Amino acid sequence: MSAQLELAEASARVAGRRLVELLGKASVEHKGTSQNLVTQADLEAEEIVTTMISAQYPDHKFLREEGESTGGVEADHLWVIDPLDATNNYAHGIPHFAVSVAYAEKGVPMAGAILDPMRDELFSAARGAGAFLNGERIRVSRNAELLECIIGTGFYYDRGELMERTLESVHDLFKRNIRGIRRFGSAAVDLCWVACGRFDGFFEYRLAPWDYAAGGLIIEEAGGRCFDREGEPLRLDSKSVVVANAEIADELLGVVRWDKGET
Ligand code: IPD
Ligand code: CA
Ligand code: CA
Repeated sequence: MSAQLELAEASARVAGRRLVELLGKASVEHKGTSQNLVTQADLEAEEIVTTMISAQYPDHKFLREEGESTGGVEADHLWVIDPLDATNNYAHGIPHFAVSVAYAEKGVPMAGAILDPMRDELFSAARGAGAFLNGERIRVSRNAELLECIIGTGFYYDRGELMERTLESVHDLFKRNIRGIRRFGSAAVDLCWVACGRFDGFFEYRLAPWDYAAGGLIIEEAGGRCFDREGEPLRLDSKSVVVANAEIADELLGVVRWDKGET
């Protein structure tokens, strides 16, 4: 295992323990809108991850959700951190959330770990070395027809065009007789569930690098495919995500693709 993957996993585990300790007790504040929350737990978890990484790699840069970022996506050595993915779930006591830590070199994710601390599920991947759940190799599903598929989605905090378009795509998928749609509230976990075959695909029209940096690598290493909403290969500066097993990727993209330039 690479040293960076080991550190991503270790820091996610320590932060995850703190999230579990604080569940139901953390103070909650709004970040601008009433849907966009931050809790004491987001801040403490980010501090834990950042401190552990800085101790080992003082020169590496951070792209992170809560504190100031110190590097952009092209940095030579960049850690991309979502200390608590699914803050809305967390603030409502819904036990479904995650810590996501990725390490990238010059825009290419090299290692990633996502911990779902309530299920004690640690998903991880290092580039070229496969994807794992608690140390066991995982692969995307083999379902090849949309009517056999469960597709995850997510709604960004926007209540305008992004929301409307997401609902239209959900409707379009139901018209294709999809088996089911799920919206569980943690994009990081959604991506891991595509990687291990629980979901067959997932799309969200607005996401940040810390939501998908680790998850995208885990899916690719599990044999899946990752795009942005226009069908371009997913990159660290993409703003949207469409992912799926290799069998249905083109068909899913055909339904949910949104060619309007990223805004
Ligand atoms: C959010 C979650 C959610 C997704 C939102 C994200 P946060 O992350 O991943 O599932 O729909 O778009 O912003 O803000 O809880 O870290
Ligand atoms: Ca997030
Ligand atoms: Ca977050």
